[in-house]
Amino acid sequence: MSSIKHVAIIMDGNGRWASRRFRPRIWGHVRGSSVVSDIVKAADDQGLKALTLYAFSTENWSRPLDEVSTLFRLLKKFLLKEKQRILINNIKFKVIGEVQNLPQETIELIKEVELLTVNATGLHLTFAFNYGGRAEIVRATNSFFESNPNKAMTEDDLSSALYRPETGDVDLMIRTGGEQRISNFMLWQMAYAELYFTPTKWPDFTPTEFKKIIERVSIRERRFGNVNSQTALGQSLEKAELNKSVYGKGANL
Ligand code: IPE
Ligand code: IPE
Ligand code: MG
Repeated sequence: MSSIKHVAIIMDGNGRWASRRFRPRIWGHVRGSSVVSDIVKAADDQGLKALTLYAFSTENWSRPLDEVSTLFRLLKKFLLKEKQRILINNIKFKVIGEVQNLPQETIELIKEVELLTVNATGLHLTFAFNYGGRAEIVRATNSFFESNPNKAMTEDDLSSALYRPETGDVDLMIRTGGEQRISNFMLWQMAYAELYFTPTKWPDFTPTEFKKIIERVSIRERRFGNVNSQTALGQSLEKAELNKSVYGKGANL
């Protein structure tokens, strides 16, 4: 069974895709947004548990106003158009990021779709919109200490205070568009993610390429700091035996 359960995608390359076709950058965003639902469907078909899509970063505010407003408009359009399909496909939807800074109408629409899908049991679909990885960690830390002023924070505490803790760590991060960087995305959740950078610009990304990437990454050996998966298993058993003889209990590995 594949160990890839949570895929996060940096949907990059819209602007360059359009510029190469002598069209305005916003045309690239329009074309890029039409790819999203096919990729969501493919994620579902692949049996993923979670798909997180980076749609607007906290740094993207520095772009020209017409580009920023196009991206906001496209989010709204996507929600209106896909609401029904999200519901029918039992998808549990959430937007992560500083949502309160978005236009009121968009906030209400996001809340509506989140609420409608709150009991869904299928794919966890997350849009990272007005999202920054550092901001998420700072927010989680502050919210933890607000409720636990005198406690030392653990890794689990921080994980539980993130925007959407139930989606857990990212197994695979794909970035389209050819750049090889993280751009402030899911910094905490990607600690042990496999990374895959494709030169394909987002508007040209297809379910076929998506499936191929998952297949290719599924056969990579994820060692999580150990030597190899066989050794990891052997060591776990040895450690369990040792714990049993030293402490008289079974190791919980
Ligand atoms: C990704 O495409 C979409 C957003 C960042 C919102 P870009 O707009 O960054 O496209 P390039 O990287 O300039 O080609
Ligand atoms: C990252 O892409 C953000 C999104 C895809 C939403 P950018 O295009 O903004 O990232 P940089 O500027 O190349 O690092
Ligand atoms: Mg870009």
